[in-house]
Amino acid sequence: METRISTDVEEAAYHLSKGRVIAIPTETVYGLAADAMNVDAVEEIFRLKNRPFSDPLIVHVSTPEVLERYDIEVPLWAQRLISLFWPGPLTLLLPRGRKIPPLVTAELPRVAVRAPAHPLTQALLNLLPFPIAAPSANPFSHISPTTPLHVYRYFAGKIPFILDGGACPAGIESTIIGEEQGRFILYRPGALAREKIEEALGEKLYSRSAPSVRKPITPGQFPKHYAPKKPLLYGWNSPPVEPNASLILFSGSPQTSHPYTHVLSPEGDLETAASSLYATLHACEEEPTEYIIAQQVPLTGIGESLHDRLRRATSRSLFTIGHSHHSWAEFLSLLQRYEVQAIVDLRRQPHSRFVPHFSQGPLQKALHEHGITYEWQPVPARLLSTIERLLHRYLHIALLCAEGEPHRCHRFRLSDELSEKGFSLFHILPEGHLQLHRAPISLRLSEKD
Ligand code: TXA
Ligand code: MG
Repeated sequence: METRISTDVEEAAYHLSKGRVIAIPTETVYGLAADAMNVDAVEEIFRLKNRPFSDPLIVHVSTPEVLERYDIEVPLWAQRLISLFWPGPLTLLLPRGRKIPPLVTAELPRVAVRAPAHPLTQALLNLLPFPIAAPSANPFSHISPTTPLHVYRYFAGKIPFILDGGACPAGIESTIIGEEQGRFILYRPGALAREKIEEALGEKLYSRSAPSVRKPITPGQFPKHYAPKKPLLYGWNSPPVEPNASLILFSGSPQTSHPYTHVLSPEGDLETAASSLYATLHACEEEPTEYIIAQQVPLTGIGESLHDRLRRATSRSLFTIGHSHHSWAEFLSLLQRYEVQAIVDLRRQPHSRFVPHFSQGPLQKALHEHGITYEWQPVPARLLSTIERLLHRYLHIALLCAEGEPHRCHRFRLSDELSEKGFSLFHILPEGHLQLHRAPISLRLSEKD
């Protein structure tokens, strides 16, 4: 199938009327669109995205008046938000009514609706006698597209048409909110800042707690939604300049000649950073680097949404570090450089006759003084649960071995096993840079403990 990229709204309308799936621009990200009332067309969206049927779709309308026609109830609080923020990047979960096909809402009692602000898609909706169901136009668990080219890379040959609306100005998905038992819930932070909605409602928004994979009754609940193809390490105050990494800085001008450095917003402006985030992640994927290091973003305004996306894109990762080559000062400076927040000591005998500093007592005390948590876990079978527990609180955890040289680390095999379990392992080498661990193809051949 040929995939045409064009600004022709009538051609887009024609494809949709024929029950085909096409890509459309919105102010947030590109969507993979179909006639929301045509069950076969909607099913094709799920198939193309490889998305589970349990994950419902947003219904896009031109104006709020359309909601009535589909029996969608609009309570007072929603009317107020609609009058202030539509068309715009705000999605509301509203009682479904009978007319919206259950496939669209994954049989849930509410339907997600929004009026996109992009002029081309507004024009398109005005040509159509039906609303549009559209998730973001990326394969399930990949980065959302913000340009026609991103969409093309994902779906060339699979869809007939991409409506070319240029780069999406907001750059991250809409904010999703709804009401549950008199409380307003922020299900997904997005391009409209929480504070603006709270001000309009005169109430605080509750955030949805821990994600659950099984029951996506609420949005964005698949824990990993926005994963780039290579490991991403997020949450740095001062990202280390690693030769094999793509670097994403939030603001400022890069103090480095590293060729794969990206600044989301030189002025530190959150809107600008949001509009460039996904394009930057796409670019990092294409670069000849092994992994991505991203600086912490501020948590105010839509910074909350940026943080949410980066956190979801973050891989489960661990560092390893050995102590035997280091003076205490060197060891500490490595921990600080890699912003290690917690250490799990893997040594069977956590004592060091020759270097007393690395014996458990003094080590724990010294780490504590620098705000670094220490745990001793010499039992391999219990390591995973220790790590899982610590990962709830810390992003940067280092496993402490005796030897710094990864190929001599007495627990090197653990690195292989952890990689097999989906962790990205980064060895902090004695000479002071990171090496991404590569697990051997077969774990059994070359191991010794
Ligand atoms: O900005 C956006 O919202 C973009 C553009 C294309 O409009 N769309 C988008 O759709 O991000 P999607 O499918 O990638 O994310 C929508 C989220 C999903 O996490 C889904 O689980 C949730 O909204 N959702 C949709 N309908 C729902 C419903 N009826 N009940 C609960 N959650 C729903
Ligand atoms: Mg999506």
